[in-house]
Amino acid sequence: MKFSSLIDRVQGEAADAWDLHYLARQARDRNEDVILLSVGDPDFATPEPVVEKALQAMREGDTHYTSISGHESLRECIAERHHARTGQVVSAANVITTSGAQNALFNCSLCLLDAGDEAIVLQPMYVTYEATVQAPGAKLVPVVLDEKNGFRLDHAALEAAVSESTRAIFYASPSNPTGIALNQQELGFIAELARRHDLWIVADEVYTDFVFDGEMHHIASQPAMYEHVITLGSMSKSYAMSGWRLGWAIAPTEMVEAMEKLALCMLYGLPGFVQQASEHALRHCDADVRRMRDIYLQRRDLLFAAFSSMPGLQPLLPDAGMFMLVNVLGTGLSSHEFASELYHATGVSVLDATAFGASAAGYVRVSYTVGEAELTEACRRIGHFVESL
Ligand SMILES: Cc1ncc(COP(=O)(O)O)c(C=O)c1O
Repeated sequence: MKFSSLIDRVQGEAADAWDLHYLARQARDRNEDVILLSVGDPDFATPEPVVEKALQAMREGDTHYTSISGHESLRECIAERHHARTGQVVSAANVITTSGAQNALFNCSLCLLDAGDEAIVLQPMYVTYEATVQAPGAKLVPVVLDEKNGFRLDHAALEAAVSESTRAIFYASPSNPTGIALNQQELGFIAELARRHDLWIVADEVYTDFVFDGEMHHIASQPAMYEHVITLGSMSKSYAMSGWRLGWAIAPTEMVEAMEKLALCMLYGLPGFVQQASEHALRHCDADVRRMRDIYLQRRDLLFAAFSSMPGLQPLLPDAGMFMLVNVLGTGLSSHEFASELYHATGVSVLDATAFGASAAGYVRVSYTVGEAELTEACRRIGHFVESL
């Protein structure tokens, strides 16, 4: 069968990275003894009051079409929170709700990029970025962050990547997979480049609530950035609501209007009861977010201590999020071999981080989205595996 060239552009090599994960998930569905540390889906239940709110909204009939950009009160709430966190003055008119941050990323890419344009992406990068940037025919220009520098921003490499064709810089901070949150100085440098070269910044901040060390800094707080920054957020991670599919973009009003045109023909609004439940979560459930953050922090520390004591493994301490990169080359295996052999020997699935970009080759990404007992058991199995090599 013949499909459009877009379909070729959106099937990158990164898609293969999930093969092992799918294998492990099928095994788990057959009740086999596997431990899935290969996916970034929170293991917590969505807070009960949020579920109740959705049920109530459904019973009250909020089950019809809604406005394309989202309920006004939800958008107001998102704008108020953004203002409180970043100081950037925005209102509901600066907010569009989307089907998760992924849908916002895709919408931004189609609104901003044409064939032949370039978009810079900090690499290692979240796996969907390649397809997202390439969908409109744009070229992804990776700025490869070096492990020797702890995968932190390389100012010179970023500046050198800007060309006449550059339209935008996409990044996730805190990052998936490195867990690095950009600091003030790094954001100041990116902001200055954006102003100087008139670039858009697509700042994916879905892990904003799970910063452990230091403070979360936002590029929207940098001076004179209103016309350059699109901030993306989501309910998926912070409120353990990945399946509800509610995210957003905060952008200049003209950009929101452009995104709305696209959303009209590809999404046509989000379920009203999901929007009501999300607004309820944002207004009333921050204590749940803090509770989950504290648990992720305990798990991070547990994993870091365990991996640090295993021969051949070098974990990278994440500032934030629910993932840890671990260099496995000291075991004599490549990251691909390590992930595959570990799974077949022990039933523990981790992800070969090469999928996030060549600079992460040699690392596996370990998610700490399972409870402490299971995580401890996974560490025990990984320890035995490493010693058996
Ligand atoms: C960096 C990053 N951005 C975006 C997403 C997509 O999130 P959502 O569920 O809001 O679409 C993810 C999900 O893992 C992510 O890690």
